Amino acid sequence: MVIARTVAELRLAVVAARKAGKTIGFVPTMGCLHVGHLALVDLARREATCCVVSIFVNPSQFGPKEDFSKYPRPFEEDCRLCEARGVDIIFAPGVDFYPAEHSTWVSEEAVSQGLCGECRPGHFRGVATVVLKLFNSCLPDVAIFGRKDFQQLAVIRRMVRDLDVPVRIVAAPTEREADGLAISSRNRYLSPEHRARARVISEVLRRAQALVVAGECHAATLLSAASRQLSDEPAFRLQYIAIIDAQTLRPVQKVTHGSSVMAVAGFLGETRLIDNVDL
Ligand code: PAJ
Repeated sequence: MVIARTVAELRLAVVAARKAGKTIGFVPTMGCLHVGHLALVDLARREATCCVVSIFVNPSQFGPKEDFSKYPRPFEEDCRLCEARGVDIIFAPGVDFYPAEHSTWVSEEAVSQGLCGECRPGHFRGVATVVLKLFNSCLPDVAIFGRKDFQQLAVIRRMVRDLDVPVRIVAAPTEREADGLAISSRNRYLSPEHRARARVISEVLRRAQALVVAGECHAATLLSAASRQLSDEPAFRLQYIAIIDAQTLRPVQKVTHGSSVMAVAGFLGETRLIDNVDL
């Protein structure tokens, strides 16, 4: 496994792989790898013959009061996990990945509005910018993103379409803990008590799915049932809960089978958690 620290080193490794007739599958991450990330690696290895994982805690997607400095960075462990999973190249640039006086930004202006975009101003501009930089550094054939961050996935798809970025985007399902909690690098911030209470998030989403299967299709009814269930868990501070169209991310009044998503975000203590399901 090659560990590339600069764009130049990454390009050398990628060019060598291409010369050997390989296709490039890319998994962008911020490290602190878990089962969710590793499932993306497995998918990349099925979709392409050379797998590149980037590990870069991107400062521009964190707000001034967010957890950039305390975001966990277990780099050696991440490298071990990647090697064991068959990753070919790790790209782990330093902070100089952004040149001094960097002044060019990618700003998607439709699907990035609302939901997490409203709660985290500037977040998706930082994500889109770093992902385009990573794509330009790695020039992958295919890139894998998790559905867990469904608004991020929508922003990346839109950016790729609008700016003619020559990469195929593949979405991976959300990996969950045994009690249903979506796996996240931030779950390790939870106290044991908050960790136990965090199951309410996926329970609310599963119940909404069950209500839809039972015939309920009014978003208002589903949302009030969900809000009631969430307010029964006083430790959880709701940021938003919404039922939206999977393509436009705009709120819908009626659930349409296969194209509506319920999404939720909130805090347990200081830890912000998000999750979503197809309805
Ligand atoms: P990070 O939070 O490290 O996530 C990297 C990728 O793993 C994302 O595509 C995310 O959706 C996916 N992922 C996280 N948890 C998952 C789970 N439980 N199941 C399936 N996939 C999961 O997302 C980012 O990093 C950054 O914003 C990044 C795209 C790297 C840009 O900095």
